[in-house]
Amino acid sequence: MPFDPTLLAQARHVLVFTGAGVSAESGIATFRDKLSGLWERFDPVQLASADGFRADPALVWGWYEMRRAGIAEARPNPAHLAIAELATRVAQLTLVTQNVDDLHERAGSRDVLHLHGRLEAFRCFDCAKPVRNMPAPAKHAGEGRRIAPPRCAYCAGPVRPGVVWFGESLPGHTLERAFAAAEHCDLVLSVGTSGLVQPAASIPRLALAAGATLVHVNPQPVLTGHPREFALAATAGEVLPALLQAAWAR
Ligand code: OAD
Repeated sequence: MPFDPTLLAQARHVLVFTGAGVSAESGIATFRDKLSGLWERFDPVQLASADGFRADPALVWGWYEMRRAGIAEARPNPAHLAIAELATRVAQLTLVTQNVDDLHERAGSRDVLHLHGRLEAFRCFDCAKPVRNMPAPAKHAGEGRRIAPPRCAYCAGPVRPGVVWFGESLPGHTLERAFAAAEHCDLVLSVGTSGLVQPAASIPRLALAAGATLVHVNPQPVLTGHPREFALAATAGEVLPALLQAAWAR
């Protein structure tokens, strides 16, 4: 049975759960897409773990500067804008993202729950003090360019990006709020995620189990095994604006 868009207009509390695919049409690479995915070309153990940073801080910092420069140049796409617009139409919207970019905020979304941190939330690797007022990302921070990380003003430790690396815990309060929303929402839009990284990936399924309708937005096929589970197979930038229009057509 196809998804009935009026269910979106009738929902009181919508949980929007996003992954790298929501930013793909802004020109930001996903992680696991074939050919274009970051983890096809780069080693996550080297670039997204505390051990990797310890072993070669300049390699890791250079890679995040490259990503930061890409994010700074990118603009929110119609999917980010539709999600911000949706928040003005439903009684309650909780936006949970696995992304470390700020494109949801730049599209106008407020109170975004960043489960995997934010790239720009820099802190000292050694003493964990926040580091503010970082200069703009290094220009021409190309692939493989090594850049020594700046040093902490308090302890001279290396500065690290504010992302959750493999083996690290997710921010507890953010995760709690995301789980609470999953238990209480009526409808989940799960947008542009492979659903492979736990515990984040359990959030849409938890909502489904608690009685919500679950709608996947992904150009790749997503298996739907539950009567309240649907898949809209096109890009987020195509699906979300059209979905809003259809939901509030009358
Ligand atoms: P993935 O790269 O694993 O998955 C991206 C998903 O987006 C895939 O299912 C694509 O089919 C889909 N996709 C691609 N283009 C799309 C588009 N235009 N519209 C909609 N969907 C599209 O990214 P995530 O699921 O976000 O962790 O990955 C989860 C985590 O793995 C990330 O947060 C990151 C990574 O390691 C950390 O940084 C801690």
